[in-house]
Amino acid sequence: MEARSRHKLILIGFMGTGKSSVSRMLAEKLGWERLDADEEIERSENREIRTIFSEEGEEAFRDIESRELQKLMERPEPAVVATGGGAVLRDNNRDVMLSNGYVVALKASPDNIISRVTLDKSRPLLQGDVAGRVHRLLEQRKGAYDFAHLSIDTTGLSIEEVVDEIVREWNVYCSSQ
Ligand code: S3P
Repeated sequence: MEARSRHKLILIGFMGTGKSSVSRMLAEKLGWERLDADEEIERSENREIRTIFSEEGEEAFRDIESRELQKLMERPEPAVVATGGGAVLRDNNRDVMLSNGYVVALKASPDNIISRVTLDKSRPLLQGDVAGRVHRLLEQRKGAYDFAHLSIDTTGLSIEEVVDEIVREWNVYCSSQ
């Protein structure tokens, strides 16, 4: 498939790696719509993610997440799509991302992630011992984000620098297709 016809720039990455802020600036720069998988889940379910986790558990959340991701990918318009940090865990989600767009993984050091997510009450997987949970999940998800077309370590970079790097690499990718 011709790369530009895929029309989705998809951001993946662990919680707190900056997907939301980067997706906002990237969409603005390209003049594209911005879609956020977590926001779509909350809108379609009419409840917060932490409520879905507490009422039905993680597996039920993952089912909803897969369904919403599929729907986002089927939308015809070009869009920057921010995904939840665990959207990469299912094979079918990875396949649907790869076949509908250019996938960019944002990475950050554990310390950076911890400082960004501490005090945030909205992430059910990071309540309690935040540092311990971040380290454990990073270990469990080692390699899970490596299927992306492009990986960027955001440590020490501004949001604008990350966005510029994505646009540059995406153009290189498109002209090579
Ligand atoms: C999750 C990440 C969250 C959200 C949910 C589960 C995860 O999204 O989807 O709390 O498993 O990594 P963010 O990465 O946007 O925080």
